[in-house]
Amino acid sequence: MSTGLPIADDTTAPYEDPLDLMDEIDQLKKEQDATILAHFYVDGEIQDIADFTGDSLKLARDATRVQTSTIVFAGVHFMGESAKIMNPEKRVLIPDLLAGCSLADSCPPDKLAAFQNQLRAEGRDFETVAYINTSAAVKSLCDWIVTSGNARELIETHVPRDKEILFVPDQHLGRYLMEVTGRDMILWPGSCMVHEIFSLQDLIRAKKNNPGSLVISHPECPHNILEASDFIGGTEKLRQFCISHTEPTTFLVATEVAMIHPLKLAAPQHEYIPVPGIMADSGETCACNRCPHMARNTLQKVRDCLRDGQPEITWQPYFDKARDVLERSLLESPRKPVNGD
Ligand code: 13P
Ligand code: SF4
Repeated sequence: MSTGLPIADDTTAPYEDPLDLMDEIDQLKKEQDATILAHFYVDGEIQDIADFTGDSLKLARDATRVQTSTIVFAGVHFMGESAKIMNPEKRVLIPDLLAGCSLADSCPPDKLAAFQNQLRAEGRDFETVAYINTSAAVKSLCDWIVTSGNARELIETHVPRDKEILFVPDQHLGRYLMEVTGRDMILWPGSCMVHEIFSLQDLIRAKKNNPGSLVISHPECPHNILEASDFIGGTEKLRQFCISHTEPTTFLVATEVAMIHPLKLAAPQHEYIPVPGIMADSGETCACNRCPHMARNTLQKVRDCLRDGQPEITWQPYFDKARDVLERSLLESPRKPVNGD
């Protein structure tokens, strides 16, 4: 599947000692008055030097608590964009401008606007709920933004039952949410390139080879993987689930493979085995559960963006509308409206 973006191509970058890079980053952080946020899917060594790590929900909230004038967001583009939207006065840097997301790419704003207009013309009375894995331009067209961490609760408490729901862009998360909320939804046909290729056959084999193991899955996985799972949750919920098991257990992990780093840190008594993926073109099993976009983040690029002050996320006109939607959806105490808002 093409995401429209080139995949990680950093094999030509000259080798630099990670310990030297970490020292350099530490020094630059002080000089540049910067805080580093890192998603659970970036390389473990970046998570280790970050000031905040977490899932999309926690990081979006953490970004609003940062005291420094600069935020470096090690994740993908929509995450940096959300951090900027919620902190207009701060400088937000991202290590690689090309770190995109197949889900965000699947839902261009013009196509969404056209589909919403079509539904309105048909007389449908709906609210649009967008997964946070969307561009800011798409967020500005929506009523609510959810993450894997708050989607069920937000839909149950905020979306009136007499409204239809248009859920974008992840069909698998949407289908899962239909099941847990009992709400009917119009689903956008997007999917995550990492989660949609887990192999059910290999998962069943891994379960057989590891008696007593538990399968933990992200709700971005297709239905057949979720059906075979013992626990389904966003990355923070998966982490909490593993922490809650005190007895050493083998977990078969159906999400992005870098997630094993925070799982091992939080609950080292367990064994974690990544579920293999299957390549669509050849049908061969692969270790392709690494997100090529998240993998664009490297220690070198974190150092470079701090040193060079770019790439920077700059304010766009549609960020104002996206800000209102993001804040009322994600913040526990949303900013009070002020004159002119
Ligand atoms: P969460 O960390 O919110 O579960 O998000 C997963 C993801 O795919 C981020 O791109
Ligand atoms: Fe997007 Fe999937 Fe990568 Fe997350 S793991 S950034 S949803 S492509």
